[in-house]
Amino acid sequence: MEIEAIGKRLMATVEAASTTEELEAARVAALGKNGELTALLKTLGSMSPEERVSEGKRINEWKAALSGTIAAQKAVLDSEAQNARLAAETLDLSLPAPEAPRGSVHPISQVMDELAEIFADLGFAVATGPEIEDDWHNFTALNMPETHPARAMHDTFYFPDRSAQGREIVLRTHTSPVQIRTMLACVKENPGGAPLRIIAPGRVYRSDSDATHTPMFHQIEALVIDRDIHLGHLKWTLETFLKAFFERDDIVLRLRPSYFPFTEPSVEVDVGYASEGGRRVVGGSGDAPGHAWMEVLGSGMVNHRVIAFGGLDPDKWQGFAFGIGVDRLAMLKYGMDDLRAFFDGDVRWLSHYGFSALDVPTLSGGVGTPV
Ligand code: DAH
Repeated sequence: MEIEAIGKRLMATVEAASTTEELEAARVAALGKNGELTALLKTLGSMSPEERVSEGKRINEWKAALSGTIAAQKAVLDSEAQNARLAAETLDLSLPAPEAPRGSVHPISQVMDELAEIFADLGFAVATGPEIEDDWHNFTALNMPETHPARAMHDTFYFPDRSAQGREIVLRTHTSPVQIRTMLACVKENPGGAPLRIIAPGRVYRSDSDATHTPMFHQIEALVIDRDIHLGHLKWTLETFLKAFFERDDIVLRLRPSYFPFTEPSVEVDVGYASEGGRRVVGGSGDAPGHAWMEVLGSGMVNHRVIAFGGLDPDKWQGFAFGIGVDRLAMLKYGMDDLRAFFDGDVRWLSHYGFSALDVPTLSGGVGTPV
């Protein structure tokens, strides 16, 4: 009888358990090491054999019943707990995902890529030189000796100390020193040293700052050296390049006599444009009604002294060179009006004028592609 009462009571506690913790406590109270049913089982040893058979059977029946109910109850409580957790952790997948900030290609990088691509079509290789340059490469070898007044035309950043060779060290004021470095490197590699056809894009530095000048800006230099290169090749190259770059067939150039120490003769090249809604749009003759000329680059036939400084025989080799302001070209093509904004790093400006890296809109269709 005592067994029945204990069994029922233990069963009632198990059934009443409403959390996994309460159920565990009920299990320990009944079947644990010091549980009540366990204690009953321990009394079997002191019983007579007949009693042991009958009592033992009943105790074991209660043990089996309690274990079964505990297991079933545990399954119910576990699944309830899991459902509660799932309900609390619900994700609302209908919420829009926060937009990931995306970088963009800077207009200068974009234009540099366009230029390199156009000139690659024309068979030009890309050459580079150091931005920290010595005055021999930056001036002397370009036919500007120490006393030459043209040195004063450049607002040069000089370093306080001279190089080991006793040369002044400067931040290069133009990409033209790459002409010298390329010729010298070519001569070193093969005794002929030419022909050669290169562009040299890169940063240059002058102490100057206003809406159209920044202390650092970008140029692209071109140099072609061969046996019989003349001004006609220069004009064709410039026209072909500017048509491809501006993606217009009506580009008209004007070559004006000028002076650069490193070219003879020298020409400055103007391009015709019209003003449309305050914006300069390249195309047409500058002499046409509503049009004007704008200077875009300096060029000329390479001075024979420069060819000699490059280690080549000026009686055998001749060629043309030109230098263009890349930032200026970018402003013209994409309509920015303040050069300083290019280098302010304002993300609003960059996201407005920058180009998507995955969807570059205006890479040249290639030289010779109809426009
Ligand atoms: N280096 C000149 C400058 O920065 C630009 C230039 C003019 C480059 C004529 C040339 C050239 O190669 O032939 O003002």
